[in-house]
Amino acid sequence: MKYFLTSARLGFRCWTEADRSLAFALWTDPEVMGHMGGAMSSEAAEGRFALEMERQRKFGYQYWPMFLLDGGEHAGCAGLRPFHDSSQVLEIGVYVARPYWSLRLGEEAARAVIGYVWQTTELEALVAGHGPNNTHSQALLKRLGFRYTHHELWGPHQTMHPYYRLERPL
Ligand SMILES: CC(C)(COP(=O)(O)OP(=O)(O)OC[C@H]1O[C@@H](n2cnc3c(N)ncnc32)[C@H](O)[C@@H]1OP(=O)(O)O)[C@@H](O)C(=O)NCCC(=O)NCCS
Repeated sequence: MKYFLTSARLGFRCWTEADRSLAFALWTDPEVMGHMGGAMSSEAAEGRFALEMERQRKFGYQYWPMFLLDGGEHAGCAGLRPFHDSSQVLEIGVYVARPYWSLRLGEEAARAVIGYVWQTTELEALVAGHGPNNTHSQALLKRLGFRYTHHELWGPHQTMHPYYRLERPL
């Protein structure tokens, strides 16, 4: 089985060493990264790639690469990262590759990851944040049912990002 998780249009698997160029293309794209600290340098992308690989090994999650089921193109990544030192809460995030914007693939990816979390873990909640002016991301989090909780410093330039929380459904 190539994908451990699928949605209507997307398949998710783990990054492998062979995917380095896909990850770099995504994270060094100034448009994709516009609200998330800007395009990464190749050194920063290398560091991020190593970190994602390590998280999968250590914790069993990462920002998983996602691919179109129809055609197999790399469409971005979506998944999980630690949130502070909590064992009950993880942070969810989504990056959609530029050619696939405006198709609501970010929403589809986030819904797939959220469903996977409720089914396969006992986490009590998920959190998510977005860049201060990322109104698209804000709208997405609202559609998903996240509620604003607080602002906190985020990322390479230490900007204040709003944070939101989604409780495990009863
Ligand atoms: C916006 C985003 C959340 C994608 O979700 P989505 O609403 O399903 O995706 P869509 O591709 O349909 O995009 C909606 C709009 O956001 C824009 N968009 C998509 N990715 C974007 C990005 N990285 N930066 C800026 N705008 C983006 C699209 O152009 C589209 O604009 P339009 O409605 O005027 O056509 C996502 O790509 C993004 O901003 N990610 C970074 C932040 C993040 O991880 N937030 C937490 C999400 S759980």
